Amino acid sequence: MAFELPRMVRIVEVIRETPLVKTFVLDGAIDAQPGQFIMLWLPGVDEKPMSVAGMRPLTVSVARVGPMTTALHALRAGDIVGWRGPFGRPFQLEIERPALLVAGGYGSAPLYALAQQALAAGMEVSVAIGARVADELLYADKFERLGVRLLLSTNDGSRGVQGFVTDAIAQSPISNLQSLTVYACGPEPMLVALHKLCRARGWNGQLSVERYMKCGFGICGQCALDDLLVCVDGPVMTLDQLEGKHDFGRWHRGPTGRKFEI
Ligand SMILES: Cc1cc2nc3c(=O)[nH]c(=O)nc-3n(C[C@H](O)[C@H](O)[C@H](O)COP(=O)(O)OP(=O)(O)OC[C@H]3O[C@@H](n4cnc5c(N)ncnc54)[C@H](O)[C@@H]3O)c2cc1C
Ligand code: FES
Repeated sequence: MAFELPRMVRIVEVIRETPLVKTFVLDGAIDAQPGQFIMLWLPGVDEKPMSVAGMRPLTVSVARVGPMTTALHALRAGDIVGWRGPFGRPFQLEIERPALLVAGGYGSAPLYALAQQALAAGMEVSVAIGARVADELLYADKFERLGVRLLLSTNDGSRGVQGFVTDAIAQSPISNLQSLTVYACGPEPMLVALHKLCRARGWNGQLSVERYMKCGFGICGQCALDDLLVCVDGPVMTLDQLEGKHDFGRWHRGPTGRKFEI
């Protein structure tokens, strides 16, 4: 992937999903696969990686966490943003195995498109979503309407199993399956727990990892995780790729390249 200038497009619609997350429907389309991301640019503010939540029209779901996402949340239909991409390695459906999609935070966004693909391929699909409280369970109703088996967890027990998403999985009959592939996107402690769970049960796993990104296509080195560059070797990585990585679950780099504990 060579450097390309951002394409400037209008925001067509802004949808409030949860108190923290808004969905932005853009006036454009992208040929991407679930798990890939774009670099979303707000002129004069910043450019940040965002997972593709929908392709036609191009859609992203964004949590308000810092300066760029706060500025984005203030935009309305008709305002202009830039995007380039798609970048990164997507999820690869393992058609012969039942699928368990696991989302934490805004991780539901790339997994929704994956669930649609898996259902269209005739696969058995379960979706586990974890959040702190009920109204932060992103896309729960959308997944319900797809007709997948839905496992929910909240830290305070306001909806679904009280605890972490791994608790909801452990309490479901799905945890007895011998053959399963986990596809996950969410906070890194959740991914570390799922890596362990998959190894313990002998399941396959594809985990979407995040790092601070600048270029998005392998030239700046900002997104290094040990010897991997998350923007080109990931963001979706296999259990084997992440096995024994010192940084996984422990360290990420901030904007200056300095390492911080996760
Ligand atoms: C491949 C990929 C896909 C993403 N998809 C989405 C998405 O669909 N929706 C969404 O809301 N966000 C997504 N993100 C995360 C988003 O890009 C960051 O949260 C972004 O930094 C927000 O910018 P900001 O200026 O608002 O906040 P910042 O000031 O940049 O960040 C706010 C806080 O988050 C921490 N942080 C930022 N980036 C990372 C990181 N990569 N790893 C760990 N901590 C970090 C910062 O240290 C800071 O504490 C994705 C990230 C990656 C790498
Ligand atoms: S973001 Fe530049 S190498 Fe990955």
